[in-house]
Amino acid sequence: MDGLLTFIGRFHPLIVHLPIGFILLALLLEFSKSKFKEAKKVLKFIMLWAIISGFFSIVTGYFQYLQEGYLWETVQAHFYLGLITLMFSIGFYIFLQGSTILNRLPRTFFSLGLLVAILFTGHLGGTITHGEAHLAEPLEELSSTLFGIEEKENGLSLTDENYKEQPIYSKVIAPILSKKCVSCHNSKTAKGGLQMQTFEAFQKGSKNGPIINYDNPELSELFLRIHLPLGEKKHMPPKSKKQLTKAEINLISYWIEAGTPERQTLGQLDLNRNLIEPFLIKDEVPFYPILNLEAPAPEIIKNIESKGIIISPIKRESNLLTISTLNVPKFNVRQLEELEGIREQLVSIDLSYSSVNDSVFRVLSEFPNLVQIKLNHTQITGKGIHSLSNLKYLKKLYMVETALESAALSSIKNLASIEQVFIFQSDRNLIEGVELSPDLQSILEYGNSILPKLPTDDLVY
Ligand code: HEC
Repeated sequence: MDGLLTFIGRFHPLIVHLPIGFILLALLLEFSKSKFKEAKKVLKFIMLWAIISGFFSIVTGYFQYLQEGYLWETVQAHFYLGLITLMFSIGFYIFLQGSTILNRLPRTFFSLGLLVAILFTGHLGGTITHGEAHLAEPLEELSSTLFGIEEKENGLSLTDENYKEQPIYSKVIAPILSKKCVSCHNSKTAKGGLQMQTFEAFQKGSKNGPIINYDNPELSELFLRIHLPLGEKKHMPPKSKKQLTKAEINLISYWIEAGTPERQTLGQLDLNRNLIEPFLIKDEVPFYPILNLEAPAPEIIKNIESKGIIISPIKRESNLLTISTLNVPKFNVRQLEELEGIREQLVSIDLSYSSVNDSVFRVLSEFPNLVQIKLNHTQITGKGIHSLSNLKYLKKLYMVETALESAALSSIKNLASIEQVFIFQSDRNLIEGVELSPDLQSILEYGNSILPKLPTDDLVY
């Protein structure tokens, strides 16, 4: 019997469209009835079907309410308005028969009444199935995409520094549930009789009882539902909705297995960092510094380009510039003076294959915002590298296939924010016999063919 009622109830979302269609058609005809000779007859016919389908909508709707765990407070307004719509339909039908007591009422009482009743009933029905924000949601999403506001992943605000102090339920689990589950499991729309908007509500469980099995966590209804394959009908959240990510499933599973703690912090629970890692907000340091600089005058750029130098912004609409002299093999240190006009904006320079010599370091030290310098395939020996120590943003320095001498390597550790220095030379091993401090070793890239000599290399067994 239960199954039959559920089955009938499931037809509600389908059947409701019939009276809506009939009533709208009737209203269209009603408002232009003067154009049709037989309008009244047809109207009566349509209204009869509006009444029949309206009646079945109410019956199926009531079964759905009984079987699917909706709360009466949620559905009552929709139910009563459905009844009122049916009353208006019957009233209008009788009115059309003529010469009854109802004919004392103005005809517009029925037509306008029907219009208002059907609109409100439909809207409330939509709110029950899809949630209050159903109409506004896609608009919000649209506007945030249009205006470039990025959705904050998960809405969690955990960082490497603070995550250990966060209580697991309110700061980790609840935000996930509220994003992916609460739209259907709340005090108004408690699908399956289950509410999840608060810890207490969640603990009450569903119409079938608790959804957590504390003796056998993995047999918990909640655990099972989120682990079922997507194709299974009982999988949660339902297939059409935004799914839990793998990381979210792992975390919720952990939480269930740990006995759904509420106030304990991630630190107290000694949560494995791998579980929380995907949720941590990483403040990524951009490669280039954020500098508020004016764009150089167009003539300055044109002048530089006229020398065959390639000049371009680091990205669209940035005033930070990168240049390359790859097309000007004769380019020498003195010509760097021509870059005076972009002294501040220049963050990356590629002088590879040019004719610069060791005085290049001193001149480059006057470009305060350089982040990257490429001197590959030049005749530099490295004398004067120390002048670069006043470049506070310098991260990468390339000196591959040059006349670089190993004596110059020690000044590299004076460079304030250096991250990598590329020194590979195909004809010799620059670091052979050189004592390198561990920090220097971690900065230097000698290429992949030459490995530093290990003490064990000479051992004979
Ligand atoms: C689109 C609406 C919707 C969303 C979103 C949704 N559910 Fe459900 N949920 C339902 C419906 C409908 C039922 C009742 C039918 C059934 O048991 O499958 C249900 C039932 C359940 C039940 C079983 C209750 C019981 O004991 O019978 C659990 C557990 C559950 N949901 C968990 C979740 C979790 C966890 C999420 C989020 C990850 C979620 N649901 C998201 C609609 C939804």
